[in-house]
Amino acid sequence: DWSMSAFREEMVAKIRAQVGTGKVICGLSGGVDSSVAAILIHEAIGEQLTCVFVDTGLLRKNEGEQVVSLFRNHYNIPLIHVQAQDMFLGALAGESDPEKKRKTIGKLFIDVFDKEAGKIDGAEFLAQGTLYPDVVESISPHGGPSTVIKSHHNVGGLPDYMKLKLVEPLRELFKDEVRALGRELGLDAAFVGRHPFPGPGLAIRIPGEVTPEKVKTLQDADAIYLDEIRKAGLYNDIWQAFAVLLPVKTVGVMGDARTYEDVLALRAVTSSDGMTADFYEFPWAVLGRCATRIVNEVRGVNRVVYDVTSKPPGTIEWE
Ligand code: XMP
Repeated sequence: DWSMSAFREEMVAKIRAQVGTGKVICGLSGGVDSSVAAILIHEAIGEQLTCVFVDTGLLRKNEGEQVVSLFRNHYNIPLIHVQAQDMFLGALAGESDPEKKRKTIGKLFIDVFDKEAGKIDGAEFLAQGTLYPDVVESISPHGGPSTVIKSHHNVGGLPDYMKLKLVEPLRELFKDEVRALGRELGLDAAFVGRHPFPGPGLAIRIPGEVTPEKVKTLQDADAIYLDEIRKAGLYNDIWQAFAVLLPVKTVGVMGDARTYEDVLALRAVTSSDGMTADFYEFPWAVLGRCATRIVNEVRGVNRVVYDVTSKPPGTIEWE
């Protein structure tokens, strides 16, 4: 891709000019954006970059391990892996308000990150995988202040105490351009093609209180859903597909016995930037296979429903 190889060279030069001989810290979220930003910056300044991956335990199934292995084994980029799963689940205990969940996660993320960053001597810069739509939504998110709508985007909202200058090489790009840049940098198509994932992770896909058991249930169900979508060859037609574990129990029947277990909602949308979205029109058979497998294979779920709301008026996420 000519334009991406030109962009890559241009950004490498810009990053070198901005950073000089300074040290850069990059927070990895586990997603495509921060990974691409980190790899690009590593290309520009090599060992001056240290990545910090704060593992919240709220990623999709097995994705934390995948990120660690990609950075350490494949790219050989210095990486601090902070196992903060218990801390995040502890902080979320008893909290069921969506915005408070976001704030709790955002604040703890910054605290944990700041503590690790403080251990890296002489770091002057903080790298982020901020994209153009993040910048735009933060200026005018559905007509309101970003802190209300998406408190955790944190665009330009670094706490004063961090005192680090920002390096944001993806600020001019849309998602599809970030994917092209990722491929240009040698990431495989499956990795860069991964659906966008919100910073607060699975916590906002568990309406109500988040518990370790619910996270595990949701990860397992979500993995089956995505597996069936991939097998049906539909993954790349969809902007985001994910499961939501509802705080509602319904009656079912299993063998001779009555069950009383959780409802799982499946969501899939098409979109070009996440600002508007249409619900995805699955072939019924695919949804049927997902429902059968999820109820059979995931303990505690006995009913699966599909969300047919578009955005607007619905949002993509449920919280
Ligand atoms: P909504 O639900 O507002 O989502 O239609 C639009 C896009 O934003 C993602 N999203 C978030 N991303 N922090 C994020 O980093 C958040 O708090 C957050 N909330 C929603 C959502 O997954 C979709 O891609």
